[in-house]
This record gives sequence, structure tokens and C-alpha cells, in this order.
Amino acid sequence: MSDLFSPLPCAERVDLGVGVVLFRKRLQDAAPSLLAALQPLLARAPFRHMTTQRGFALSAAMTNCGVLGWIGDHRGYRYTPHDPQSGYPWPAMPEILRSAAIQAADDAGFADFSPDACLINHYAVGARMGLHQDKDEADFSQPIVSFSFGLPTLFLWGGLARRDKPQKFPLEHGDVLVWGGPARLCFHGVSPIKEGAHPLTGACRLNLTFRRAA
Ligand code: SIN
Ligand code: FE2
Repeated sequence: MSDLFSPLPCAERVDLGVGVVLFRKRLQDAAPSLLAALQPLLARAPFRHMTTQRGFALSAAMTNCGVLGWIGDHRGYRYTPHDPQSGYPWPAMPEILRSAAIQAADDAGFADFSPDACLINHYAVGARMGLHQDKDEADFSQPIVSFSFGLPTLFLWGGLARRDKPQKFPLEHGDVLVWGGPARLCFHGVSPIKEGAHPLTGACRLNLTFRRAA
């Protein structure tokens, strides 16, 4: 099993700052198995457009797996144990995804990552995500681990203040980005997805972020 996640010869580790590591193409070989593991849970908890407190729909469609799931509605952003759409608990986090996230965190220098939530984002062409901090979690000592699949984006990586000018770097199919420690609360965002088609995902980008929410 661990062969699936051993770095490819073409994989590359890029240290982007203290606490920020990009593993390029790390999941390229594992992607078909990882994406297959998502299929049954997407049937139970389909993608939907959450909203801001003021009722504006987010442009990425979202769902979750894990003990907790991130939601946004008229009451704001938070984690819940149930999918508000079905009333059922969020689907369990598939072990193949969980272990790949833990291994990436460990390789980035964050031992003992124990994610209880995975937010799954679906970006159609044109969808984006504005600069924000991931700050709805109870425990900032644990990192965020992000898997990207399908169409590429230019990721925006800012500083600890919203006004800090973000750097831009591509996130492509199979890339893993880990941020934590002093970088845990850095602002980040996703540039609009450009038109295209990927053999595994079609005309979209998928992103999974693993978090310790509780
Ligand atoms: C997020 O910040 O929740 C998603 C990041 C991404 O799509 O790469
Ligand atoms: Fe985020």
C-alpha cells in the first residue's frame, strides 16, 4: 500500500517558507485510487454550493468526509457532525485518503497529524476562492494538508495579514501542499480555473483539505 505514496522519480519537494511544503506530483500515480475512493461518498453527500452568512453562494461546490464537515450558511461558517442536506453524519474519511494525508504531513515535518475533517472542493471552469484564512478549527497546532486533482490553478499564497501581497504558484494534478506551524494562519486563495479537460476529472479541479477541526 505504501508504494502508492512513495515519491515518484519526477516528484519534487519545494520548501516555500517556514512551515509550507509543496510536494509536486506526489499523488500522480495514486490519483485514480484516491479519486475512486471518493465516488461512494459523493453519492451519499453530493457537492452543493454553500453560502456566506449574507446569502452569497461560494463559487466552488463543496462536500465533506470525516467525523466533522465544514459548512457555510446564514449562521456563518462552522464544522458540523451531520450533513445538513441529508441529516445523516458525513461519510467516513476513506482510509486510503487519510493515510496519504498523514504521510504527507509527516514528510513535511508535522508528526502526529490526526485529521477529523476533509473538505472536498469542486471547481468548475471559472470558479475561484477568495483570499481567506482557515480559522474555524479548534487546534491550530495541526497543519492543513491539501491534495489537488484535475485542472490546474494558480494558487495565491499570502501572509498573516490580509494586506500582504500574495505570491502565486501553480497547483497541478497530484500536487500536495502542507502548511502549518508559523504558516498555519496564512491567507490563501484559488485563481479562477481556466478552461480545459483532465483525463481523470473532466472539466474541473478537485481539492481536498484535511484538517484537525475539533
Ligand atoms: C481551501 O482553501 O479550502 C481550498 C484550497 C484549494 O482549493 O486549493
Ligand atoms: Fe482554505
